[in-house]
Amino acid sequence: MTAATESTVLPERITRFPFPFPRDVYRYSTNVEPAGTRTETAAGGWGEHPVDIDGFYVDELADRARVLAADPDRFQALPHMDIAQWDAMVTLMRMLAEAYPRTFALDRDGDVWRWSNVALDLEQAFAYGQAATLPEPPLLYIGRQIQEDVVLLDQRDGALWGDAGLVTSAADWSLRFDVGMSFLQIHGPVPRIHTEGVIGRAQSFLLGLQAGQRYRRTNWTLTVDRRLDTATETYPEWGRDRRLLAEGPLDDVGHRLHLRVEVQHLIRLGASGALMFLIRTYLLPFDEIALVPEWADRLYRVLEELPEDMADYKGITRTREPGLKWLREYGGVCP
Ligand code: HEM
Repeated sequence: MTAATESTVLPERITRFPFPFPRDVYRYSTNVEPAGTRTETAAGGWGEHPVDIDGFYVDELADRARVLAADPDRFQALPHMDIAQWDAMVTLMRMLAEAYPRTFALDRDGDVWRWSNVALDLEQAFAYGQAATLPEPPLLYIGRQIQEDVVLLDQRDGALWGDAGLVTSAADWSLRFDVGMSFLQIHGPVPRIHTEGVIGRAQSFLLGLQAGQRYRRTNWTLTVDRRLDTATETYPEWGRDRRLLAEGPLDDVGHRLHLRVEVQHLIRLGASGALMFLIRTYLLPFDEIALVPEWADRLYRVLEELPEDMADYKGITRTREPGLKWLREYGGVCP
């Protein structure tokens, strides 16, 4: 227990935050581990459920609806992904009902399935595989009820292909641009991982996943403000904030600069054989990270040491200096 947690009751968004750094130095790796177990952190813990419902549920789904209304292309599905969409929808419904039985239920009576979501006041009867029994495509239907982004990868010719998805919280990439690409092509822009063998090892691992197996990994960057939609498409809306924050008063950095952590789940679906990739984004401002001294200290060391090419790719070259300065001057970190 930290000094902060002894004297203060921290809110859930801090105690459940998936702080991602086990060491003072961060490098890319094939960092996968089995899913569904709790990971303890200095402030609490995370990771019991691959689909995670928290206090931001209603707000984040309203944000997703807003982004989709402005740009329906955030949902993509190639025609051969119909079966995988149904498979993903029912798998997600089962996962939700199992993890949160007071909020979600899935029942089946012969060919008729009944889904209910108390949190959003939804009831839906449907027949599996019958598009006319749902108001919209299955992945879009269930995607509006989970905080995770989803990509479905088809496996064929010894490779994985990102052939469907619903992504409204992309960390500077575009599903519309990537749809139909292979796993290796999708990772084309990332430095180091091709020459260091990280992505080749990841692909071999994923190709070998068996039906029902679930793994997870984390990824991270920095984001200005509590903004989930940092897709390439909306870059003109958020790109300049990084420069404006760096040029603005240091006082603003603590509440505006956020550590953005993605908890990613990799799940092999049983009926379609597709790989379901869930990306859940958590944002925590630097002034709340500083309430957990171990986190502030670790974040400082990771940011300070991160090589230039990785910082560049993550889009944090302008914000890491103000972040470091804030952590020194207001965050209690001694360099
Ligand atoms: C074990 C599995 C995986 C590993 C080790 C891995 C690794 C990585 C790494 C290291 C990055 C750079 C992140 C950063 O610096 O912020 C990245 C980016 C990315 N990954 Fe993965 N990844 C995995 C699975 C997947 C899957 C299944 C997808 C599904 C489509 C995916 C889609 C992406 C995308 C879209 C980006 C951003 C690329 C861009 O800038 O355009 N990843 N991944």
